[in-house]
Amino acid sequence: MKLLLFIVFIQISFAYGLRGKRCKEYEEYNLITTCEDNPDVFSDTSAIIDRHGFPVENHTVYTKDGYILNVYRIPNPSGQPVFLQHGAAASSEWWVYTGNNSLAFRLARKGYDVWLGNTRGNYNSDERNHKTDKQYWNYTIDDMGNYDLPAVFDTIIKETNKRGEIIYVGHSQGTTEAMIYSITHRDEAKRNLKGLILICPVAKMNSTNKLLINFVKILDVLQIDHTGSSNNLLTAILQNFGSLMKNLANLSNYIYGPTNLYTAEYMPIFFRYLMSSESTLPLKQFAQMASSGKFEAYNHGLGSPKVYDLSMINVPVHLIAGKNDALANLTDVMIVHEEIKNSKLTVMQGYNHMNFFFSKNIDDFYDEFDIAINNLK
Ligand SMILES: *[C@@H]1O[C@H](CO)[C@@H](O)[C@H](O)[C@H]1NC(C)=O
Ligand SMILES: *[C@@H]1O[C@H](CO)[C@@H](O)[C@H](O)[C@H]1NC(C)=O
Ligand SMILES: *[C@@H]1O[C@H](CO)[C@@H](O)[C@H](O)[C@H]1NC(C)=O
Ligand SMILES: *[C@@H]1O[C@H](CO)[C@@H](O)[C@H](O)[C@H]1NC(C)=O
Ligand SMILES: *[C@@H]1O[C@H](CO)[C@@H](O)[C@H](O)[C@H]1NC(C)=O
Ligand SMILES: *[C@@H]1O[C@H](CO)[C@@H](O)[C@H](O)[C@H]1NC(C)=O
Repeated sequence: MKLLLFIVFIQISFAYGLRGKRCKEYEEYNLITTCEDNPDVFSDTSAIIDRHGFPVENHTVYTKDGYILNVYRIPNPSGQPVFLQHGAAASSEWWVYTGNNSLAFRLARKGYDVWLGNTRGNYNSDERNHKTDKQYWNYTIDDMGNYDLPAVFDTIIKETNKRGEIIYVGHSQGTTEAMIYSITHRDEAKRNLKGLILICPVAKMNSTNKLLINFVKILDVLQIDHTGSSNNLLTAILQNFGSLMKNLANLSNYIYGPTNLYTAEYMPIFFRYLMSSESTLPLKQFAQMASSGKFEAYNHGLGSPKVYDLSMINVPVHLIAGKNDALANLTDVMIVHEEIKNSKLTVMQGYNHMNFFFSKNIDDFYDEFDIAINNLK
């Protein structure tokens, strides 16, 4: 009976638009409950920004090698520009999906001019026109650092006239591309950026969770050239089964690191936005770095790949790491910290790779973030 009701419910949901839920406890996510609606669950960056009462702009960025990126902005023309760059197979939604509790809205309320990046291949960029285009998916993290970021910074500077003022904030792969850019475009980085705040920085991967490497091997064997992007069905189902959701979150910790800091209220959102489309090559590049232990370019098979020298970075850097992060493992982050001259490091106790977006004590992270950004200003 419950199953039948559930099937009817899902049918109706899809027919009349999906409704997201927000419950305080996992147990409350059951078929018929009175939890709050959360329209941000089945939404997108610009709609979420608009719904929470902020202005939003959409900027189209053209890279030198022919990719089209969409960058969103919560404009505050008198404020300092802060650019937020998401991680691998993620999207700009991550910075806004907890609404009033999100980093982006917090920065906007404090008067910053907030810019939200979307990498090439992302569903907010022009991925939909290229699903079966092999050439399109032939890109690496090197290309993000060498082509995406220069084009994005040009756009921000053209719009704001604030060269040298941009504060770059990246998570995970968003930190990797920033470090590549700062090394390969050393002088330009110095001219354009005030500094980098790198959350879960990934450059040295000797102690990374080896599950990643196995996952990439599977993608390779199956000849999958990019990951998928829609989690609507999974989320629609999960948000009606609290214990299933809790178990899946627990299972995901074997990838991201153990934590007891997740809050049930944002779990549907976590699963909804977990995967955006991304080429397999950046993931292979991470696996390659995990095998070699070196911070290096993707190996196209044309001799040994270029190794990136972290000591070349000459913009101010503040690293923020999670003690329980299994992907940006603290052992590796300490090495990055040593190699980037004069970098600062903050460690969040109990945080895994995902707790920087929602956790029971997210304000503790935001306090540390404020210290980092104030130091850079
Ligand atoms: C942003 O602009 C791009 C390019 O014009 C367009 O494809 C996309 O749908 C726009 N997004 C929103 C939310 O308006
Ligand atoms: C977000 O915060 C603002 C100001 O603090 C408040 O006016 C608004 O109602 C809040 N929105 C939601 C959805 O909580
Ligand atoms: C992918 O791009 C690289 C250089 O960016 C090139 O060397 C390689 O031949 C390309 N591979 C394919 C399959 O097009
Ligand atoms: C990588 O980690 C292993 C143990 O996990 C250690 O034996 C090895 O020395 C490390 N290599 C480097 C380059 O740090
Ligand atoms: C998953 O849950 C079990 C039982 O509550 C717990 O012992 C284990 O540490 C959890 N695993 C992770 C990776 O958090
Ligand atoms: C980080 O790597 C070390 C080995 O270098 C390992 O003992 C530790 O469990 C890892 N941390 C996490 C959270 O996976």
